[in-house]
Amino acid sequence: MRGEGCWLIDDAGVRYLDACGGAFAASIGHGVPEVAEAIGDQARRIAYVNGTAFTTEPVERMASELASLAPGDLDKVYFLGSGSEAIEAALKLARQYWVESGKPGKRKVLALTPGYHGNTMLALSASAREHYRRFFSPWLVDVVLAPAPYAYRCACRGADAACPVCTGLVLEQVIAREGAETIAAFIAEPIGGSSTGATVPRPEFHRNVREICSRHGILFVADEVLTGAGRTGTWTAIEQYGVVPDIMTMGKGIAGGYVPLSAVIAPERIVDVLARGSGSLMHAQTFSHHPLACAAGVATVAYMRAHGLVARAAEMGAALHEELEALRSLPSVGDVRGRGLLAGVEFVLDTKTREPYPRAAHFAETFVECALEAGMMVWPNIGHADGERGDLVMIAPPYVITREEIREIVRRFEAALDATLARTRTARSA
Ligand SMILES: Cc1ncc(COP(=O)(O)O)c(C=O)c1O
Repeated sequence: MRGEGCWLIDDAGVRYLDACGGAFAASIGHGVPEVAEAIGDQARRIAYVNGTAFTTEPVERMASELASLAPGDLDKVYFLGSGSEAIEAALKLARQYWVESGKPGKRKVLALTPGYHGNTMLALSASAREHYRRFFSPWLVDVVLAPAPYAYRCACRGADAACPVCTGLVLEQVIAREGAETIAAFIAEPIGGSSTGATVPRPEFHRNVREICSRHGILFVADEVLTGAGRTGTWTAIEQYGVVPDIMTMGKGIAGGYVPLSAVIAPERIVDVLARGSGSLMHAQTFSHHPLACAAGVATVAYMRAHGLVARAAEMGAALHEELEALRSLPSVGDVRGRGLLAGVEFVLDTKTREPYPRAAHFAETFVECALEAGMMVWPNIGHADGERGDLVMIAPPYVITREEIREIVRRFEAALDATLARTRTARSA
């Protein structure tokens, strides 16, 4: 019925701790009146014009904000409604850029497995998440996959400094096999989303990826849909690695979940090739560049600035990871990891061998149910261990969370885990 800060209140007045910001979207917390007012004001002024023919003040303001916040030369912004749409447009931009640069042979997309970039067909094609793809496989395009830097499930268990997967150097082999002249873009989540349970790649990973992509003429697309807008303690996650991608996508938290808003951000050096060639990106949607969505985005960014919320995400993120350490000693908790206000807790049948629960146990789903009964929302993921097995939950609260609310997350987590273990044990012995 209602939301306040990190809390959701149902029709019976029961309060739930929103420990994952819905689908990682509620960045500034629920019930912020400034955002509601900005949407209302803009609706009274002008709610809609065709975004490919006209621009509006909130669109220009939000574009300037994102351009100034994005790293390096990323300063041209295209607004859409969802992360999936932004991924579609970003990959189309990469492809169109190469065709208009006289290199039409560059057509393949290189992505990581496990990984997730959205549910529309091209975004799903680039997503190594088997259970989402199964029914639609005949419609998906071939995407070249390289193993993701997922230390907990890597053969090296994150312990080999020279591991080609954990360092990103494995891309070199994949590119050599496929032929750099056939690859348009490499896409990755700078810090893992739910598909690798908030795995943080090593410091050299993105530096190596950047160097390999530049050397082979492959556009590096950083998918910051989940990690961007301050979630990991800096405006974007990739800036922590000191590298600048060629194209970036954002979504989820940029408008705090108040409206659907996503963005593709690219430098002039890419956009100009299209401007001087065919004239424009061959992409248009009725609701691109929506004034109300951008008004909400401007108000969200202003709220973040006024309340120092990105710095707060870093500070409360450190507190979150400190408190979550207590979970490591609990039964079935295999790993706890993440950065800023993004954390993943991976559950396993055997913490020594890291053997996952059988899929039939539905451990992650049961945990989410038990967490809800304990008055808390968390986000589940399955299948990351081997395409079928694997159970983890994500914690990603709004940046306004307090230390006391973080302790409450841990308390409710422990209660939910007890209930999950009891329920799955009963189910197995039945
Ligand atoms: C990294 C990443 N990219 C893209 C998407 C797709 O965004 P949306 O669900 O808004 O289409 C998601 C959604 O979870 C995501 O986590």
